[in-house]
Amino acid sequence: MACHQYGGKLKKAEYIMSDNILTKLEDGIFYITINRLDKKNAITNEMYVALISAVNEYEKNDDARVLLLSGDKMCFTAGNDMQGFLENPPVDDDSESPLFLKTISQAKKPLLAAVNGPVVGIGTTMLMHFDFVYAGKSAKFSMPFCNLGICPEGGTTLLLPQVIGHKKACELIMFGESFDAQVAKECGFINDYFDDDEYLDKLIAKAKKLASQPASSIRLTKHMLKKHHAADMVDALYYEGSEVRRSLKTPESREAMSAFTQKRRPDFSQFN
Ligand code: COA
Repeated sequence: MACHQYGGKLKKAEYIMSDNILTKLEDGIFYITINRLDKKNAITNEMYVALISAVNEYEKNDDARVLLLSGDKMCFTAGNDMQGFLENPPVDDDSESPLFLKTISQAKKPLLAAVNGPVVGIGTTMLMHFDFVYAGKSAKFSMPFCNLGICPEGGTTLLLPQVIGHKKACELIMFGESFDAQVAKECGFINDYFDDDEYLDKLIAKAKKLASQPASSIRLTKHMLKKHHAADMVDALYYEGSEVRRSLKTPESREAMSAFTQKRRPDFSQFN
């Protein structure tokens, strides 16, 4: 992946990971912005590759002390690109989306996310690997995996019950209904939420504060907080990844994805 650098010094630089994934480094904050608004920031395989490159660049650049991922002010992401699921589904653990999830799950430096509007599918599950998440009041989170005939990925079955409990996890995943920022905060899924005009600035202020803390202490603390579940997470990513790949081949999921791309309601009546 080509990484174009602008502005001379790495301390303040802009990179283009892809047209749809924008990055810049400023004041110790490594910003990644999802930028495919005409498709509600749905993430394609090319975008996962760019996201992986961006996170790797962040991890190895000593001047980058915190990562801040966001989308548009009013749209984080509608999740995995549906056409991509139909045409280029993941084939193994090193395919684009599982590799992205593995990369963020193993990041050693702090990950922050600012989200609003649609926060769907992997847009929601990826947040479980972030250390701080602030939302705008208009955020609508959802994990419609069962509705699409597939199953959760990205360590969700390990992390979600830990964060919100088994029953709430069942409710959110099995019905796949959206939940708002207030519910997300109440169940501990996000740190906080603010007015749509404020949430990004609030998180940038937090990011600046975190960037000014001793970096080695922050890294060590993150490592210690995650260490006890690290082996379980490797297992969960492997197990969920293989089940997602299997479920993406079922007639139910093909019908659900096709229905979305053809703008019609899915018809599951033919499947037992
Ligand atoms: N993959 C591919 N394209 C997507 C997409 C996705 N996940 N989500 C939205 N889009 C596209 C739509 O097809 C549409 O494209 P078009 O203008 O060429 O027809 C465009 O983005 C706008 O989407 P639209 O549905 O018209 O916007 P909306 O504001 O009415 O609804 C969502 C927004 C996010 C609620 C709705 O698009 C949605 O439910 N998307 C699917 C989410 C999903 O199930 N993701 C996968 C989870 S595993």
